[in-house]
Amino acid sequence: MYSQGLIGAKTDTDEDEAFLAAFQARIDAEEKIEPNDPMPEGYRKTLVRQIGQHAHSEIVGMLPEGNWITRAPSLRRKAALLAKVQDEGGHGLYLYSAAETLGVSREQMTEELLSGKAKYSSIFNYPTLTWADIGAIGWLVDGAAIMNQIPLCRCSYGPYARAMIRVCKEESFHQRQGYEIMMTLARGTPEQKEMAQDALNRWWWPSLMMFGPHDSDSQHGDQSMKWKIKRFTNDELRQKFVDATVPQGEYLGLSFPDPDLRWNEERGSYDFGEIDWDEFWRVVKGGGPMNRERIVARRKAWEDGQWVREAALAHAEKRRARREATKLAAE
Ligand SMILES: [Fe+2]
Ligand SMILES: [Fe+2]
Repeated sequence: MYSQGLIGAKTDTDEDEAFLAAFQARIDAEEKIEPNDPMPEGYRKTLVRQIGQHAHSEIVGMLPEGNWITRAPSLRRKAALLAKVQDEGGHGLYLYSAAETLGVSREQMTEELLSGKAKYSSIFNYPTLTWADIGAIGWLVDGAAIMNQIPLCRCSYGPYARAMIRVCKEESFHQRQGYEIMMTLARGTPEQKEMAQDALNRWWWPSLMMFGPHDSDSQHGDQSMKWKIKRFTNDELRQKFVDATVPQGEYLGLSFPDPDLRWNEERGSYDFGEIDWDEFWRVVKGGGPMNRERIVARRKAWEDGQWVREAALAHAEKRRARREATKLAAE
């Protein structure tokens, strides 16, 4: 009765306890769940939401950095940034494909992004004002992404976990190229150091927001942990990120825009100040400095690509008709 894949995915009401318990037992045994395996509808929906949101973040994340490709300060910087932005496009494609294995189409996901129904990481709703922002994004934003994504390599859903392995390798290159930009600026002229400090001041808090609301305010946290979609909570990941990043900032000789940031000997971790949650929710809900521009840019890209999608479909249809005709003639 539970042998159907996605198409016959069960609704919440007809999932009996035996089915849910058997599914949980597979998860607890660290088995990977694959596209055609029976799965609770809630599991499928959670993954569609999370992978879709992740894919959108990769694609929208190309915009703030793409903004600097033509203005990179040297050929070497331009080549590295171009490769990085291209990688992000690739990440988006693997992730859209992973989401498609759960029965949602690329068109549906795109429509939800453009209508504002689907979210993407709020960090990309902040503008990139100077070249140092490219350094800060690589160092902090890709650094936070790595912290989030390394545990996803062990996510219970096979296609998502496998996509993350390659993504994480590329992210570590992104993080290093950003840190190296910061290092060069921090060791440069006073103006360059000032630029690096200003970028850190603007990107620090939004980077901490990337881990999402506190565990106590997180809607989906517990169930995702139980299903091993997530392996660490938002607050655990945020703390790991702070602990890894603060010494890197100190090495650069820069300071963090948080008067409450200090090492806590007892905890063996850094204490840090409270995030401005009003700003967090405002940006999540569409009120960030760049929300509108980002969606306008994505809509334009989708509309500009319409003829390509139509041409590909028409070509496929012609080939099919030709094949049919040859088959008929041979009979
Ligand atoms: Fe990425
Ligand atoms: Fe990246």
